[in-house]
Amino acid sequence: MTVSEVPTTRPIITVTRRLPPKVEARLTTMFDARLNSTDIPFDAAALSQALASSDAMITTLGDPLHAATLHAATLSGSSEVRTKLLAHFGVGYDNIDIAVARELGITVTNTPGVLTDDTADLAILLLLATARRAGEGERELRAGNWSGWHPTHLLGTRVSGKTLGLVGFGRIGRAVAARARDGFGMRVLAWSRSLTDQQATDAGVVRCATIEALLTACDFVSVHVPSTHHTRHLINAERLARMRPGAFLINTARGDVIDEIALVAALRAGAIAGVGLDVFEGEPAVRSELLELPNAVLLPHIGSATDETRTAMGMLAVDNLEAFFSGRVVPNPVA
Ligand code: DGY
Repeated sequence: MTVSEVPTTRPIITVTRRLPPKVEARLTTMFDARLNSTDIPFDAAALSQALASSDAMITTLGDPLHAATLHAATLSGSSEVRTKLLAHFGVGYDNIDIAVARELGITVTNTPGVLTDDTADLAILLLLATARRAGEGERELRAGNWSGWHPTHLLGTRVSGKTLGLVGFGRIGRAVAARARDGFGMRVLAWSRSLTDQQATDAGVVRCATIEALLTACDFVSVHVPSTHHTRHLINAERLARMRPGAFLINTARGDVIDEIALVAALRAGAIAGVGLDVFEGEPAVRSELLELPNAVLLPHIGSATDETRTAMGMLAVDNLEAFFSGRVVPNPVA
């Protein structure tokens, strides 16, 4: 028997993407960690294979763990999968069929809380960039087309003192509210299915009873709901038509919350003033119509992309693995 064939008693953990160095180092000391040194995303076959040959996995939003992929990993003649825990690296887990995972006895955990501030910062960045036409200005300058300062050059829209509407009022929505109110003196309105008047008052915002009422009343609207079958195309053509003509729409949540075809039509018709997007319906593919619109500020899903936060997300995923394999309650269960 060669060294590599010596059986290991440590749980086998497959990690689908590269993680920050400190996280990979911790994983390696604790588990038989199968790291993805190439960082090439797993396809459905590779995911099923990993599910069938690992005790747990660290997954990311780019891993489509749909019913067929999960079922394909079941051990022959049983409805069990070798993988018992999906320690998902992210707060959103819409890439995982939670009902099927549960049915197959797989625990799923996520990484809430640690990415709140950075994602809220990015929502504010998009809000400022759209209002102040930062993308247009940068493109103009880099193309060598800046003809110098003049009084009517690239006039944008003032942010301070305006009204911001939040669609969804969880951790990230609340963090955006605090920044907008305390940093820019904005009046903040919020809508969520469960928000009460008292909770809104306690958080220093005004509750709107309907999304429609919120959209009609705001200069800026920022989306902070997860992707579920309830929120798919929550912002559709009808609701976009409720927004003020000079209003801006920001999305750092999930792409499919906004109907992108309706969004492009609204932007082309001047029904809204601009959009700031960090997430897309078909990402990483981005609709060419959006790429052509000067009043769209587009980022490649970097809401939580700081060294500090990505390390904290990884450490939280490892905390969940550690708890699971020590027989303790996992800190962040979602299924
Ligand atoms: C998440 O955690 O769901 C984010 O979208 C990744 O930053």
